[in-house]
Amino acid sequence: MIDIRTVSSQDLPSIAGMHMRLFEGDYSTSLGYDFVKNYYYGILLDGRLGFGLMAYEGDSPAGFIFGAYDHEKIKRLKLLPQAMRTFLCLITRPRQNYPWLKLFFKAKRSFVSPFKAELVSLCVKNEFQGRGIGRLLIRAFKDRLRSMQIRGCWTKTYSPEAARLYESEGFLEKQGFDFIGRSYRFYVWENKNG
Ligand SMILES: CC(C)(COP(=O)(O)OP(=O)(O)OC[C@H]1O[C@@H](n2cnc3c(N)ncnc32)[C@H](O)[C@@H]1OP(=O)(O)O)[C@@H](O)C(=O)NCCC(=O)NCCS
Repeated sequence: MIDIRTVSSQDLPSIAGMHMRLFEGDYSTSLGYDFVKNYYYGILLDGRLGFGLMAYEGDSPAGFIFGAYDHEKIKRLKLLPQAMRTFLCLITRPRQNYPWLKLFFKAKRSFVSPFKAELVSLCVKNEFQGRGIGRLLIRAFKDRLRSMQIRGCWTKTYSPEAARLYESEGFLEKQGFDFIGRSYRFYVWENKNG
């Protein structure tokens, strides 16, 4: 039986551990475990900035999904952590991360404005994959956005499995770009009842 709960600060070590294993090679993991725990996810636990949902089987964490709001008011609050994240990306691996960030912000600017949240990450532990948990997390995420009357969200992924899952959950592919041997795709989902 899978139970979906709102993430609390006690979940952060397990979330950062999963992130470091399952997103190996992504720019975010180059920032290190502590940064991922405290800034990539930790700041989103401030209810004004975002939220996280965690799937549990009994007491075992199985996966998580995180969202970041994108209201005008919130943008100002996020400015500092975002600037820190970008700065750390640039000093840790400048050659890889500078072109990546440039492409990322360019692609994002072209479609993100009408959408009000970012699906930051979705992750299910290997041993729990293929059992419908990823889909459950996306549905709970969409329910949360609907309950807050948020118009929709956007996300990106380089995983073909995740892309298929997003498409089957009504996300539309917007744009993509190739970077260091990986094809990143951007998706948007619109809350039709919002
Ligand atoms: C992508 C991910 C979240 C999917 O989670 P999951 O719990 O295994 O997915 P589900 O069991 O809910 O499967 C949903 C659908 O995805 C597809 N899918 C999931 N894993 C798959 C795999 N390994 N191979 C093929 N299809 C797969 C299936 O088509 C499935 O559809 P179905 O319900 O019609 O069978 C998980 O594989 C993961 O965490 N991967 C590593 C991190 C990642 O890439 N995250 C996404 C990018 S932000």
